[in-house]
Formats: sequence, structure tokens, C-alpha cells
Amino acid sequence: MKFYIMTLFPDMVMDGLNTSIIGRAVNQGLLSIEAVNIRDYAFNKHNSVDDYPYGGGAGMLMQAEPVFQCYQALTERIGRKPRVVYLSPQGKTFNQSMAEAFASEEELAFLCGHYEGIDERVLEEIVTDYVSIGDYVLTGGELPAMIMVDAISRLVPGVLHNDVSAEFESFQDNLLEYPQYSRPEVWHDKRVPEVLMSGHHANIEKWRREQSVIRTAKNRPDLLEKAELTPDEQILAKRIMEE
Ligand code: ADE
Repeated sequence: MKFYIMTLFPDMVMDGLNTSIIGRAVNQGLLSIEAVNIRDYAFNKHNSVDDYPYGGGAGMLMQAEPVFQCYQALTERIGRKPRVVYLSPQGKTFNQSMAEAFASEEELAFLCGHYEGIDERVLEEIVTDYVSIGDYVLTGGELPAMIMVDAISRLVPGVLHNDVSAEFESFQDNLLEYPQYSRPEVWHDKRVPEVLMSGHHANIEKWRREQSVIRTAKNRPDLLEKAELTPDEQILAKRIMEE
């Protein structure tokens, strides 16, 4: 899968994404991530890409033309018009189902705004998806773009060594992940739950599923509406929520 990130801060994006699992997947050729510098498309001698908003108000806006030129150069070079995600608190809130849908694209472009945003006219022409990563306001779209690239990349086949983990972790199934333990058996006087030491796979699965239901009921009861629970699990969840 190929990601193109249109930004005024290419180093920030590339530095953040070339380590760990994503960096390894890039080195293996499973992913490619390219930051495209919008400033390279500045059209005045000061190299500026921002200006005052018509009608007044605080701050500066990114101008339409450099963003448009950047987009056009990109689409001409790759020979296609990829979906373009504009990161903004006004977008639809990003979640795991959106990550899954984006992961089926071959190419995906991100547009990162700065200052007070971007001239509306170019957004109307090039943006296909408006996405927010949550109800808070950041200084720019770079961190949200990096978060999306990370969440989408781990769903690309081969990126996680163990394909099972992408399926079973939190949110697939709308349940939170169960607690996990590794050596030693006792740490700070806390013992690993007995069932996990039993080697009895069916009991372990049952215990994990229960823990997922309990955690979700305690921490994210809103998710339970979409989770498929057995009648026993529904009773368990209800009890936890009433506690
Ligand atoms: N840009 C600024 N704040 C943002 C947010 N919460 N999500 C996506 N993009 C943003």
C-alpha cells in the first residue's frame, strides 16, 4: 500500500513513521510512505503558502493554489487520483471500521492543514474524505495522519508477523482486549491467573472472552451495543455495569 502525505512538515511525518513495525514494513516493500512538501509549490518569491482570511479573524490560512499544485503534481506523477483524506476536527471520527475500509485501497493521500486551516475552495476540489481523530483541536494534521497511517498499515497483510493479532485485538468484535501476562509467574506479589497456567485451551478462551466482556462493560459500555453477546454474556455485562 502506498501513502502520500501532503504537508508543510515532511520531516515530522517521515521521522515518526520510519521506526518499529511500520519502518520494517517499509523496508520490506510492503508499504511505501512519501511526504510531499506543499511549500515546494509556493508561487511567490517569499516561499509563503499562507495569507490572511477574507472577512478578518484570527490567524492565517493556507492558500488554495500551492495545495492544488501539490495535489496535481502528485496525481500526474502516480497517474491516478487517489482518495484524499483531509484531517480536521470537523471530519467523521476515525475508528477501526474506517481503518479497515481504507486498508483496501492501493493508494491513499493525506492533506495536512496548518495555521487556521485551508482555503475552502481547494478542499472542495480535491478532498474525498474528511476525518477527525477525536474531539479535540491539534495544531496541524500531521499527527492525525500518522495515527491513521499506523492504524491502516497494521491491517495490510504481512505487516504484522502474526496475522492473528490484527484480527483478535481490541475493537475487532467491538470488545476490548483481555489482560495478558508474561514471565515471571509472580511479580510484586501478583500471580498470573491460574487458568492461564492450566494449558486447557477451551477454559483459557472462555476466561479471555469473559475478561473482554467485563473490561468493555467497565470501561467502554458504549461499545457493547454493537458487540454480539451470548445471553450469559449479556447478564454478565449488565451485572458489571450496575456495580
Ligand atoms: N487537526 C486538528 N485537530 C484535529 C483532529 N482532532 N483530528 C484531525 N485533524 C485535526
